[in-house]
Amino acid sequence: MANDDTLEFTVEKTTSPIDPAKREQFLEDPGFGNLFTEHMAMVHYTDEKGWHNARIQKREPIMMDPASSVLHYAQEIFEGMKAYRLADGDTALFRPEQNAQRFQRSAKRMAMPELPEVTFLESVEKLVDIDRDWFPSVEGGSLYLRPFMFASEVFLGVRPSREYLYMVIASPAGAYFKSGAPAITIWVSEDYSRAAPGGTGAAKCGGNYAASLVAQAEAIERSCDQVVFLDAAEGRWVEELGGMNLFFVMDDGRLITPPVTGTILPGITRESIIILAKEEGLDVVEEPYSIDQWRDDAASGRLLETFACGTAAVVTSVGTVKSSTGEFKIASGGPGQLTEKLRQKLVDIQRGVVEDTHGWVKRLF
Ligand code: PLP
Ligand code: COI
Repeated sequence: MANDDTLEFTVEKTTSPIDPAKREQFLEDPGFGNLFTEHMAMVHYTDEKGWHNARIQKREPIMMDPASSVLHYAQEIFEGMKAYRLADGDTALFRPEQNAQRFQRSAKRMAMPELPEVTFLESVEKLVDIDRDWFPSVEGGSLYLRPFMFASEVFLGVRPSREYLYMVIASPAGAYFKSGAPAITIWVSEDYSRAAPGGTGAAKCGGNYAASLVAQAEAIERSCDQVVFLDAAEGRWVEELGGMNLFFVMDDGRLITPPVTGTILPGITRESIIILAKEEGLDVVEEPYSIDQWRDDAASGRLLETFACGTAAVVTSVGTVKSSTGEFKIASGGPGQLTEKLRQKLVDIQRGVVEDTHGWVKRLF
């Protein structure tokens, strides 16, 4: 068994680096998820050897046997996090240990081995270091990091794999929503659920996203930016978007967000917003909120704002909610004031514009 705490990464730089002028051109308008840096991190796992062969190397395709079990039974998990350039020129991660810990919880749920937190953090930090020239020049840009792990054993029997590959890739990122709209439009999925009690909703596993795509396709067909899922048992309670958590700003000072009960992803942005909102004097309430109440509160004006949050999308107002029975607007359908205030508070901490009193910002170099 390898000694996890002393796992050393070997670092081998690409021997054919990109022309810097070409890179700068790419970085002017990276969008989201289109562009990738030149290196990647890899760590192997087998039941016999434990975690081993940790390295940072040039980004390149990986060879897979067609019987690799992930291709058949989808034993795969991932994380999403960002590295930021701070106002003073340093580079930092935002609460990366939270991603490491969620990655371990996701692994546990998917019967996968838990990557030691220190190895997760080192893989990410070393990749950011070697690809430090890949930060986008656009306003609000960051280096989006995608740690992931999959079952690599060549075996078709249905049981947890005995071999895994953990990797990290990096993608220079601008805004998540193409439209750059001040408020997004979302589609209520009535025919499809994302997660059921006892299922994998709280894990960040690829299968959850695969299951959400038919509903996301419906959303796109109706010119919506994202899909919102209701609980699987009653089809009544609002849970979350395909890739973001939800908050509701009420006119009596309450900020409602669906509780973390196993069917939604416990977002790191969600938890940070809860803390920041409490500091603003808001009464944060983690309790179920129904689709009917959402519609009624929007109509009566008791609901002032709705916003979605997540690493990729940061904090974004929801302006319009569409479903098979019609649509409704939140207030005037534009961006919300409190949403903008909380977004700015969060972004200012992430970017080192204000003092980090919570110990959330991990400076790298
Ligand atoms: N919910 C889902 C389904 C997600 O995919 C994400 C994105 O990671 C979130 C919520 C927000 O999580 P976080 O704030 O940790 O990025
Ligand atoms: C993130 O916000 O990092 C996500 O993973 C959401 C989506 C891009 C899958």
